[in-house]
Amino acid sequence: MDFSAPAVALADYEARAAQRMSESVRAYVNGGAADEISLHENCAAFARLKLQNTVLEDFSRAHTRLSLLGLALEHPILLAPVAYHRLVHQEGELATVAGAGAAKALCVVSTQASESLERIAAAATGPLWFQLYIQHDRGFTADLVARAKAAGYRALVVTVDAPASLRNREQRSGFRLPPGIEPVNLRGMGAGPPASAEIGRSPLFSGFLEGAPTWRDLEWLAGLTDLPIVAKGILNPADARRATQAGMAAVIVSNHGGRALDTAPATIEALPRIAEAVAGAVPLLLDGGVRRGTDIVKAVALGASAVLIGRPYVHALAVAGAAGVAHAVHLLRAELEVAMALTGRPSLDQIDPGVLWRP
Ligand code: FNR
Ligand code: LAC
Repeated sequence: MDFSAPAVALADYEARAAQRMSESVRAYVNGGAADEISLHENCAAFARLKLQNTVLEDFSRAHTRLSLLGLALEHPILLAPVAYHRLVHQEGELATVAGAGAAKALCVVSTQASESLERIAAAATGPLWFQLYIQHDRGFTADLVARAKAAGYRALVVTVDAPASLRNREQRSGFRLPPGIEPVNLRGMGAGPPASAEIGRSPLFSGFLEGAPTWRDLEWLAGLTDLPIVAKGILNPADARRATQAGMAAVIVSNHGGRALDTAPATIEALPRIAEAVAGAVPLLLDGGVRRGTDIVKAVALGASAVLIGRPYVHALAVAGAAGVAHAVHLLRAELEVAMALTGRPSLDQIDPGVLWRP
C-alpha cells in the first residue's frame, strides 16, 4: 500500500496506524476476546446486509441532523469510549476531543482515560458524555459521577458488559501499560480484589466478581444523579427492557467491539430484537464494526438513532492526532450522505427497513 497517498476511507487509517503502533499496542487496540469470532462478525454481518437503491428523490433539504438526550447533533456518528488514548498519541484524549469538536462528533470519554476527565472537558469544544465503570468502591464511584457532572459532562454511559474478559491476542503479545500511562481518574482507588491464580480456587467468582455491579447499582446511580444514564453493552432483549425499567435514558447495543463475550452475535444482528423489546421507549445506539456510511444506514434502518465508532478513530488518532480524528469522522459522514442519497433518504428519520434489499 502507498502510505503517501491520502486516506480516503477508515481502512486506510487502520493500515497506516498498524505501522505506528508497537505489536503489543496493536494487539490491545485491534484484538478481541478469545477466538475473536464476535470481533470478526461485527463487520461481516454488516457486509452480508444488502441495500436497495432508490433514485431521483428530492435532496434539496437533505440533512443528517438528530436530537439525542436533549442535544442537537449535526450527524449520528459518536466516538465510543476507549481507554488510554496516550498509548497511540502523545496528546491522548486532549487531541481526540479537539478532533471530535472540529467534526461535530459527540465524544464519550472512558473512565480509563489517560488524561483527567477535567482536563479533557477543558480541552473540548463540543459536548461530552462520561463512560462510567462502576468501581468496587461505590463511594469512589459516586465521587467520579460528581466530578463528571461538575466538569460539564452531559450524560453518563454505564458499561455493563465487561466485568471480566479474556483477550488472548493481547495476552500473547505481553501487553502492559507503559510507564507514564495509567487510568488517572482512578488514582486513589484501591486495587480491588485480585483474580485468583491459585489452581483449585475459583479464579474469578470468589473475590474479583463479588463486588461487580448489578441492576441494583443502576437504580442506585439513577437516584444519585440528574444526568441521563445510558446503559452500554446490551445484547439481550430482556436486559434492554430491564434497563428501561431501571430508568436508563438510552441503550447502547454493543458487544464491546468483540472484546467481552466471544461468539456473542454481531451487534447489527442483535439490534432488531432489542428494538422490538424496547418499542421506542428510549433511543437505541449501536457500536461494533461500523466502518462505512452504508453501515450507518443499515443500523438506522433496523432501529438505531445513532452509532459509535471505536477502533477507527483510534487508528486516525495514531496517524494524525486531532486532525486525523476529525478527518475520520468527516470521511464517514460523507459516506453516510452518499449512502442516503443513493437510497433516496434525505433525512435519518426517513431511513426505514425498506432500504434493506430483500432477496
Ligand atoms: C474499548 N471499549 C471500551 N468501552 C468502554 O465502555 N470503556 C472503555 O474503556 C473501553 N475501552 C476500549 C479500548 C479499546 C482499545 C477498544 C478497541 C474498545 C469498547 C468501545 O467503546 C466500543 O464498544 C467498541 O470499540 C466498538 O467497536 P469498534 O468500533 O471498535 O468495532
Ligand atoms: C477494554 C476495556 C478498558 O475494552 O473496556 O480494553
